[in-house]
Amino acid sequence: MSSFPATRALRATVSRGLRFASTASSATLKAGRREVSVPTGIFINNEFRTSIGDNKFGVVSPATGQEVLQIEEGREEDVNEAVSAARAAFKSQWAKSDPVWRGALLNRLAELMERDREDIIALEMLDTGKTYKQASTGDFPGAVGTLKYYAGWADKVVGLTSFNIPKTFAYTRREPIGVCGQIIPWNFPLLMFIWKIAPALATGNTVVIKSAEATPLGALKCCELIKEAGFPPGVINLVSGFGNTVGNAITNHMDVDKVAFTGSTATGRRILQASASSNLKKVTLELGGKGPNIIFPDVDMDKTVDWAAWGINMNAGQTCHAGTRIYVHDDVYDAFVDAFAKRMSSLKVGDNFDSSVDQGPQNNKLQYDKILQYIESGKQEGATVKTGGKKVEGTDGGYFIEPTVFTNVKPDMKIMREEIFGPVVCVSRFSSESEVIALANDTSYGLAAAVHTKDYERAVRVTNALQSGTTWVNMYNFVHWSIPFGGYKESGFGRECGEAALENYTEVKAVYFNMGMEAPK
Ligand code: NAI
Ligand code: MG
Repeated sequence: MSSFPATRALRATVSRGLRFASTASSATLKAGRREVSVPTGIFINNEFRTSIGDNKFGVVSPATGQEVLQIEEGREEDVNEAVSAARAAFKSQWAKSDPVWRGALLNRLAELMERDREDIIALEMLDTGKTYKQASTGDFPGAVGTLKYYAGWADKVVGLTSFNIPKTFAYTRREPIGVCGQIIPWNFPLLMFIWKIAPALATGNTVVIKSAEATPLGALKCCELIKEAGFPPGVINLVSGFGNTVGNAITNHMDVDKVAFTGSTATGRRILQASASSNLKKVTLELGGKGPNIIFPDVDMDKTVDWAAWGINMNAGQTCHAGTRIYVHDDVYDAFVDAFAKRMSSLKVGDNFDSSVDQGPQNNKLQYDKILQYIESGKQEGATVKTGGKKVEGTDGGYFIEPTVFTNVKPDMKIMREEIFGPVVCVSRFSSESEVIALANDTSYGLAAAVHTKDYERAVRVTNALQSGTTWVNMYNFVHWSIPFGGYKESGFGRECGEAALENYTEVKAVYFNMGMEAPK
């Protein structure tokens, strides 16, 4: 058993993205023009600890490809400690605590995040490659809004009562599930951290969460604030590390009651298998997408081009609900493609700390290489590169890719079928409503879709026909914490956000009272 705080002091010189100084389990990083401190330990029982095996891994800035610091890397034994801490906290007080207090703690965390807003945004930009616009108008307010929203829910989760059954009365209780394992990806690290913990904590569960290995910093910073906010020890535990070690240990653990996951469909399958072969822990999955974005002729073309561009450019295309298959009616196809390609090629790609830049680097080297391979495969399979189609010249080191538009794409091409998760979009044409509905649904995914038209009857018909958890009319890529979000088909199951997420974190217990019923003889 090891729970020693780190004592090693590291010193190094600074420049943006390089290690500055690191004392007992925390470091100061230069992120843009700010110097931001971040804890580097494994967070268990409100302490930042070194890993039991004394392992570390490097955090890389995607703008430079350089390591910015080393943090503690958890393994199975660290997960075991975290689960024990979460179980003890669940049993001792948290599960039975006053929900008004739980809501107040969530609100307090939101306030502390607002106090440290600019530090958190800068750290997230350094870690992910996001622009200030993306991090400050998307991720950050989304995280704080979600906390406040579930703070409000904490004391409103109640059961039902029934006197409708003769000689009986019955009621239900909504009880927390227990220790929740949560595994999050690298595309919205801060936002996913909050999306996961907020509904779990509001309903009285405790948490062992794993950040993505490519983006561990936002979660570490939040844990510092979780401690300051006054959450009891063990309620939230964070183990930074890799999928095949930390992730695997969480999903196979016999004392974890539930796993919530956001990430790839391939890993989602593995998580279900781990549940099946361990303790049948409950699983919710938010997986990939290949969103169709349908454009009819009766639209305001300028606004539609704006939404279609946002549909793919938001977060440099690294969005599960991105609009990656644009279907345009024959009558406006040429006009759309010209305006859209012009818009895409006008986007400035570069250092995400430069405020004039529209698109920063892709998040990590694996993803960068994967996107470039998809672009090559599109070319080889005979699609036309209308604009973009390669890495940005002169950016060796960082992970910069040109916004890329493919036309002449066939339904069976890889770039039409697989999730690319980058600034790469396919544009195709259609001639009838029934044809485009069939094309839109011709995918194993079902996360998000949109239709653009001024004909409201058509808008309702088409959205009803789309097999998709979210459907937009005359907009794209807008998701709010108060509205349920999740997938049809292989995009997963369970809904995050809104009242729906409370279902993921509560068991329903039915209680019957005998009010004069005789036992059957
Ligand atoms: P991934 O699904 O492997 O990673 C997501 C999280 O799962 C990370 O924290 C990772 O460490 C963890 N993980 C990996 N293997 C695990 C295992 N066996 N058990 C438990 N946890 C495990 O996704 P990756 O490799 O980062 O990206 C691959 C593709 O996945 C992307 O190109 C994209 O298409 C898709 N993706 C979808 C996301 C979404 O929001 N739905 C987010 C990230 C990736
Ligand atoms: Mg990183």
